[in-house]
Amino acid sequence: MAAPSSRAVSTVVAELTAVFAEAGIDSPRVDARVLVAHVLGVEPASLFARGNDPFPAAYLPALTAIRARRLAREPVARIRGYREFFGHEYIIGPATLEPRADSETLVEAALNLRSEFRLERPVRVLDLGTGSGCLLLSILAAWPDAHGVGVDLAPAAIEVANANAARLGLSDRTTFLVSNWCAVLSEKFDLIVSNPPYIAGPDMDGLEPEVLRFDPLLALNGGNDGLDAYRAIVPELAKYMEPGGAALLEVGHNQAATVAALCAAHGLAHKAFHNDLAGIPRVVQVASI
Ligand SMILES: C[S@@+](CC[C@H](N)C(=O)[O-])C[C@H]1O[C@@H](n2cnc3c(N)ncnc32)[C@H](O)[C@@H]1O
Repeated sequence: MAAPSSRAVSTVVAELTAVFAEAGIDSPRVDARVLVAHVLGVEPASLFARGNDPFPAAYLPALTAIRARRLAREPVARIRGYREFFGHEYIIGPATLEPRADSETLVEAALNLRSEFRLERPVRVLDLGTGSGCLLLSILAAWPDAHGVGVDLAPAAIEVANANAARLGLSDRTTFLVSNWCAVLSEKFDLIVSNPPYIAGPDMDGLEPEVLRFDPLLALNGGNDGLDAYRAIVPELAKYMEPGGAALLEVGHNQAATVAALCAAHGLAHKAFHNDLAGIPRVVQVASI
C-alpha cells in the first residue's frame, strides 16, 4: 500500500485550488477537485467522502506533473484524455478539437430531424471534419438504425474517432476516412453535419491559451474571415445530399446569415437557425430543394 503523505486529501485540493486561482485559472476549485480525483483514480464526487483521508505520498509526483500541465494552461479534459459530450465520454488527442458544449446544439437539432426521414432503409449521416467523431457518434448512438461516415484531413483524428466508435459499440455502423472534405466520397447522405474551423485568422491571437496552445490549428483557423471552410464545403453539399436531405452547419459568432446566404447561392433552401444556450445562432439548417 502507498505510504500516506502528511496532508489530507481536502488540504491537497485546497492548496491546488489556491495555486490555480493565483495563476488566473477560471475555475480553480473545480479543476483542482477533478485533477486530484484523476490522480487518485476516483470519481470527483467521491472526494467529499475522502476529504479527511491522507493523500498517499506515492501519488505526489503524478500530482506535481499534472499541476505543472494545468499551470501551462493545458485543459483539464486533455490532461484526463477524455471529455463528456452529449452524455458520452469521448477520447481526445493532440489532433482533435476538445468537443464544446455549444456543439450539442447541432446534435439536438439533428435528433429533432429524425421524423423527417421516412425511409425504407437506414438513415445515412455524413460528418465533415469529424475530429473525435463526437457529432456523428452522438447521433448514431441515438438512432440505432442509422449508418454514418466521418471524414477528417488529420489521420490522427481519424484514429481517435475510430477508437471512440469502438468504445461506444458503434464501429459496425461507422466509417471514418481521411479526406479533404468530400474528396473521397461517392455516395449520398440523408443528413450532412459539420462543425468546420471558423475562427477568423485575425481573431486567433485573442483565443484563451487553453484553446490556442492545445486545440489543433487545423480545427480552429477558418482563414482571414473565418469562412474558408464553408466556401469549400457548401458548394459540395447538394451533390452529396439525397433528395429530401438536410444539412446542419455549426457557425461562429455573427456567421449564421452569411453561411445561410452562401447555402442559398448553392442550391439549398434555408430552413432554420438553432441557437446555443447563450441565445446565439450556432447552427444553420438547410435542405435540398
Ligand atoms: C472545429 S473541428 C470539429 C471537430 C468535431 N467535429 C467537433 O465538433 O468537435 C474541425 C475539424 O475539421 C477538420 N478539418 C479541417 N480542414 C479539413 C479539410 N480540409 N478536410 C477535412 N477535415 C478538415 C479538422 O481536422 C477538425 O477535426
